[in-house]
Amino acid sequence: MALVSAKEMLKKAIDGKYAVGQFNINNLEWTKAILQTAEEMKSPVILGVSEGAGKYMGGFKTVAAMVSAMIECLGITVPVAIHLDHGTYEGCYKCIEAGFSSIMFDGSKFPIDENVAKTMELVDVCNKKGLSLEAEVGAIGGEEDGVIGRGECADPDECKKIADLGIDMLAAGIGNIHGKYPADWPGLSFDTLAAVKKKVGNMPLVLHGGTGIPTDQIKKAISLGVAKINVNTECQLAFAAATRKYVEEGKDLVGKGFDPRKLLAPGVEAIKATVKEKMEIFGSIGKA
Ligand code: 13P
Repeated sequence: MALVSAKEMLKKAIDGKYAVGQFNINNLEWTKAILQTAEEMKSPVILGVSEGAGKYMGGFKTVAAMVSAMIECLGITVPVAIHLDHGTYEGCYKCIEAGFSSIMFDGSKFPIDENVAKTMELVDVCNKKGLSLEAEVGAIGGEEDGVIGRGECADPDECKKIADLGIDMLAAGIGNIHGKYPADWPGLSFDTLAAVKKKVGNMPLVLHGGTGIPTDQIKKAISLGVAKINVNTECQLAFAAATRKYVEEGKDLVGKGFDPRKLLAPGVEAIKATVKEKMEIFGSIGKA
């Protein structure tokens, strides 16, 4: 199946009360591991690409071409969207040009009127091209490509303003943050989530910072309208731990253990296990 926008898969997720995982990619191995797991689990999937990761992988065009070719060569039949994660205004246009099927414009750092104006413009462009668009209200804290922010709670009225522009999914800050949660993290603000949901109706909501949120909170968030959950750090931690173990056990020094295909294999398996576990929690298995 060719790349698809996230519109249809998120509509189905809202109706079926589950969430589609957005797993961020950082290289070819990551991409292949996530696509193969999605196919095996018969789950729709969204591949997230941050601007930093896009640059690292050789540019957005390289990434879009790699993902499209891999879907074809690996015979992937489940719906796959390639989605710009936390796009700047300029980054959105670059990804539209490069062939992404889904875009996130993160205007949360702008005053609300500017966020509205820029989002409105991008709604029009994405609609014409059949791409899905995610917008953000209330900055989601933690580290995003080197920028550290606090977890905010979005203003439900501002969420409605942005949701009414015709976007396909809305990331509203509900106390969630990227990366590891601090020990004194108070948890997700379900009052905020319920208030946002009341204002935006059936709009699929996006939960960023999916790493380390307890399962009961994830399930409650899905019951309150979250239809897409982003995971990045957890795959990175799993990959790093498995690679470190392989090296510490000296396996890279035995036979051809230094061959990148062998050296990276434990990390790849760790990513697959993490993605599978998340898909189970999100309830997306068998939904493709
Ligand atoms: P984590 O890195 O905390 O999993 O968050 C990922 C994310 O929200 C990407 O937008």
